[in-house]
Amino acid sequence: MAIAFIFKPVCGFPFSRMVFCAKLTRRSLLQTVLPGMGLFSLSTQEEMMDFFEVGRAAKMVTDSIDRIRHDWRPTVGVVLGSGLGLFADTKLTQPVCIPYEEIIGFAVSKVKGHAGRFVAGDCGGVRVLAMQGRVHLYEGHPISQVVLPVRTMIKLGCEVVIITCAAGGINPDFDPGDLALITDHINLTGQNPLVGDNDNRLGTRFPDMSEAYDLELRALAHEQAQALSFTLQEGVYAWFLGPSYETPAEIRMARTIGADLAGMSTVPEVIAARHMGARILGISCVTNMAAGLQGALSHDEVKETAERVKDRFVGLLTRVVTALGEE
Ligand code: HPA
Repeated sequence: MAIAFIFKPVCGFPFSRMVFCAKLTRRSLLQTVLPGMGLFSLSTQEEMMDFFEVGRAAKMVTDSIDRIRHDWRPTVGVVLGSGLGLFADTKLTQPVCIPYEEIIGFAVSKVKGHAGRFVAGDCGGVRVLAMQGRVHLYEGHPISQVVLPVRTMIKLGCEVVIITCAAGGINPDFDPGDLALITDHINLTGQNPLVGDNDNRLGTRFPDMSEAYDLELRALAHEQAQALSFTLQEGVYAWFLGPSYETPAEIRMARTIGADLAGMSTVPEVIAARHMGARILGISCVTNMAAGLQGALSHDEVKETAERVKDRFVGLLTRVVTALGEE
């Protein structure tokens, strides 16, 4: 983890932000600096770290927003998957953009097409904080960093988080280009962002996942899709670590155990968000049929399909967000 110490000279020259980065690992910080201050035992410090990091990130985002919009706080968070950056670019009015580089603790994605910033703005009278770009566990970031942006959104006031993603279709009734509501998930990675000491200020030790994907939000999304004259599919999302696509045998296994969609994101964010008590709507764009159900898979195909359906997806998101303001 890189800890950046930012000194802001009081004279306020616009060019005068000086950033000194000292590379400290989380463990070395915990084992040297804080005990050196004689303040906490190691386990207490570890518990506090996530809470501290979320609070610090939320404060930095708040400060950035406050510089431009007074007293503005988001109520809905939107995680924009591949190709959906358009939503933040075109549907949020009076936008405030906060690059992830400016937020201590945030990882920056190296995947092409992922912008890597928060965009705060209004959509149909609803205050939205959108993530334009996200990082994936397969990029090698610690899972705590993968979920930090979603936790930050919730800390800032987002009670509803809409999480979008690309996925491979496992259910043979699905077609590339379909949009599908996630009804539940299967975690096939053995990874969980809640592993480690639990901080009760973030959420309970053993969060219930019986209805991780909110039923009312799903009903609302169906209504909005109907108003736009299309039908949403529904299905169970299986989280594979990636970055290699699945094998046909893995997809057959996933189908056997009840999965309809295969993807490499979403689940860690959903777990962290449920831990903090947010309501979740998950929407996948079926960008391809999963391995073994079509010819060879490619990222180009994923991008092309996401591009093809982005207007429909953005239209749905806009209606859903607006309807949330009328709830
Ligand atoms: N598998 C996993 N993740 C994906 C896929 C897939 O087939 N398509 C888009 N994201």
